[in-house]
Amino acid sequence: MKIREAFCQAHRDLGNFLEAELLLKSCLGLVRRDIYLNPDRGLTHYELNLLEEAIEKRKAHLPLAYITGKKEFYSLEFRVTSDTFIPRPETEFIVDAVLERLPITDHSAPEGRDLAFGGRSPITVIDLGTGCGNIAITLARHIQNSRIYAVDISKKALEVAKENAIRHRVEDRITFLEGDLFSPWENYYLEGKIDFLVSNPPYVIRREINSLMPEVANYEPRIALDGKEDGLFFYRRIIEEAHLYLKSPAPEQVRCGAGRGYLILELGIDQSSQVKEMVKKTLEFESIEIVKDYSKIERVIIAQRQ
Ligand SMILES: C[S@@+](CC[C@H](N)C(=O)[O-])C[C@H]1O[C@@H](n2cnc3c(N)ncnc32)[C@H](O)[C@@H]1O
Repeated sequence: MKIREAFCQAHRDLGNFLEAELLLKSCLGLVRRDIYLNPDRGLTHYELNLLEEAIEKRKAHLPLAYITGKKEFYSLEFRVTSDTFIPRPETEFIVDAVLERLPITDHSAPEGRDLAFGGRSPITVIDLGTGCGNIAITLARHIQNSRIYAVDISKKALEVAKENAIRHRVEDRITFLEGDLFSPWENYYLEGKIDFLVSNPPYVIRREINSLMPEVANYEPRIALDGKEDGLFFYRRIIEEAHLYLKSPAPEQVRCGAGRGYLILELGIDQSSQVKEMVKKTLEFESIEIVKDYSKIERVIIAQRQ
């Protein structure tokens, strides 16, 4: 079978042009251009088997990213496995929120960032529930002078995250630890030292998980989705402790350029007002902002420490 025929078959079977192209590329180990420049190149038996298996898996709703083993996030490619949540485009708003709040506009200049939070210390970030490491690694790539602490309760997800950090050459800037939210940081003395505390926590209401698309409900790790009875379990826990870790300099230090830390969380649909209320109630934050995603859904909450 030739590439052009295999492409048509994949397209017919999947009913999706882009997915057919991605599967073909992945199974043949080709880049996009090769497919279109060599449509008459024949597939080996091995390649054909791989493609047919991949098409069957996809028809059984296995997410494309788990078949190809990769997913793009913020223009970087991440390895993903069935142990990791698949990064979503809306989570890129968390990265934007951090980069936009580095006070110096040239984020790539280490000297600029040194000035950013009033001193020569690096920008410090905690990422709770790092998954394949997409948020932590993207931030490390964009903020050279950064020190990032990333935690996940899943040992297997962390293994993938560490691999991704090495692949993107930022492993020296990120400390990955296994554990429950803040608990692994007990011996790191991070209280009051963090510039950005970010998280895309599990936020699906437990009884609604089974009604999600089969790609999500049947294949993505439950532990990455399950926000318990009302979907808000992790927000309560994070918001209760977040202020202890975020920088909260005295007014005179702020006047000299020291920055107050930010809490930045992704939100599920219709969760913004309840989460905003939780943040307000702590009386530890000021200037609470909500950012909408591409579909105009209130997607990210950003609260600055008082
Ligand atoms: C929705 S996924 C987000 C993954 C990744 N940060 C992203 O944005 O694509 C939530 C992650 O939280 C992790 N997680 C769940 N419960 C946790 C807990 N108690 N402590 C730390 N991480 C947890 C899951 O393993 C999963 O990787």
